[in-house]
Amino acid sequence: MIRFPKDFLWGAATSSYQIEGSPLADGAGVGTWHRFSHTPGRILNGDTGDVACDHYRRWAEDIELMADLGMSAYRFGLAWTRILPRGTGRLNPKGLDFYSRLIDALLARNIRPMVTLYHWDLPAALDDRGGWLNPDMPNWFADFAQVAFEAFDDRVPLWCTINEPWVINDGGYAIGCNAPGHHSLFEPPIVAHHLLLSHAAAVERYRGIGKGAIGIVTDIEPKDAATQSEEDVAATERDDAYKNRQYLDPLFGRPYPASLAKIFGDGWREWPASDFEKIRTPIDFLGVNYYQRRVVHHDPAAWPTFASPTPVPDAIYTQTGWEVHAASLTRTLLWVKERYGDLPMYITENGAAFPDPPAAVDGRVDDPLRVRFLRDHLRAAHDAIAQGVDLRGYFAWSLLDNFEWASGFSKRFGLVHVDFATQKRTVKSSGATYRQIIASRGAALEA
Ligand code: BGC
Repeated sequence: MIRFPKDFLWGAATSSYQIEGSPLADGAGVGTWHRFSHTPGRILNGDTGDVACDHYRRWAEDIELMADLGMSAYRFGLAWTRILPRGTGRLNPKGLDFYSRLIDALLARNIRPMVTLYHWDLPAALDDRGGWLNPDMPNWFADFAQVAFEAFDDRVPLWCTINEPWVINDGGYAIGCNAPGHHSLFEPPIVAHHLLLSHAAAVERYRGIGKGAIGIVTDIEPKDAATQSEEDVAATERDDAYKNRQYLDPLFGRPYPASLAKIFGDGWREWPASDFEKIRTPIDFLGVNYYQRRVVHHDPAAWPTFASPTPVPDAIYTQTGWEVHAASLTRTLLWVKERYGDLPMYITENGAAFPDPPAAVDGRVDDPLRVRFLRDHLRAAHDAIAQGVDLRGYFAWSLLDNFEWASGFSKRFGLVHVDFATQKRTVKSSGATYRQIIASRGAALEA
């Protein structure tokens, strides 16, 4: 029998730059993603977040959609640039007001807000001072966090510090496909450390102010070796160290995985023990973003981990080239529990881009692959609960089709279709399926 706990949170997730549009409205400062998307050649088709889903103006309509789907929670990100246009110093009351209205309207619909402080869009003024490479980042981030806590903690029960440190670092500083577009082997170990210290500094501030719960959101990608050859097994370990354990191990009191020193070579650094004491500061929950597992083989051309994905025969792949593998969601949650301890978890993102019909036909958008994806992954989440994982909620990625970073608007992840020419929203079949699952507390997954 499939029944999720009564107080299980059913939600969807978004992030500010991906949906809001109007990035400079009402006194907001320039962010790194605004700058990056306006740099020719960075984003597919020259797309930008200038309008995106126009959520900055259509937020009330979007909350009605959430209510219509029966959602009990909504995870969204704050644009740091709206609140502190230059990253530090002067406050912009209009930015705070925007989020304040949003939070009130969510609560009026019985939708619990989960707020992400940092979902990749850094004030450009801070990037000009080195961004995540600057050792002052933990203070700047904690000051920003404190402004948000003081403004909203009376109404926000769940806080996430940083969304996916690995992607921020790998995409932004190693590979360069994301803002700020650096390509370096020397910067990532510094960025990783500053991200972790910044997270910890925000948690520490929260302990003095907050009444709710705070955690971090990590994307976890379980790895399987393509063969049992020594080379493939070692490549798989490196890939796992780089992507998963680089962040999770120090958060839970372990040193950085030893293989990172090999990956980064001369770029590797040693840090004072007192930093690790800070980083391990207890969190109230872990947010897990799960999209795919990776089957890995040794590949001397694949910088920086020399590990590449091996295609799996008969597997379904999403448009972003990710293998659909629901069983690995259960396994990921069990792995966290076993390795890091029995702490509350949320699935803070899970979803897929598929080639949906480009427009609604007779008011419908049918997305059978996403329906299947959603059902299989929610069953997998339930399996984890049945095996003892303290899983408290599920947030689908995403509520709306949106600006998919360097892929622009070419990849659709929404439960709700957005016609970007008219901004018309249409609930997809997957959205309707989610509504039934929520209403039945999971019983609809039995059919
Ligand atoms: C991010 C989202 C992104 C999604 C799909 C996650 O890595 O948190 O912002 O849109 O994956 O790529």
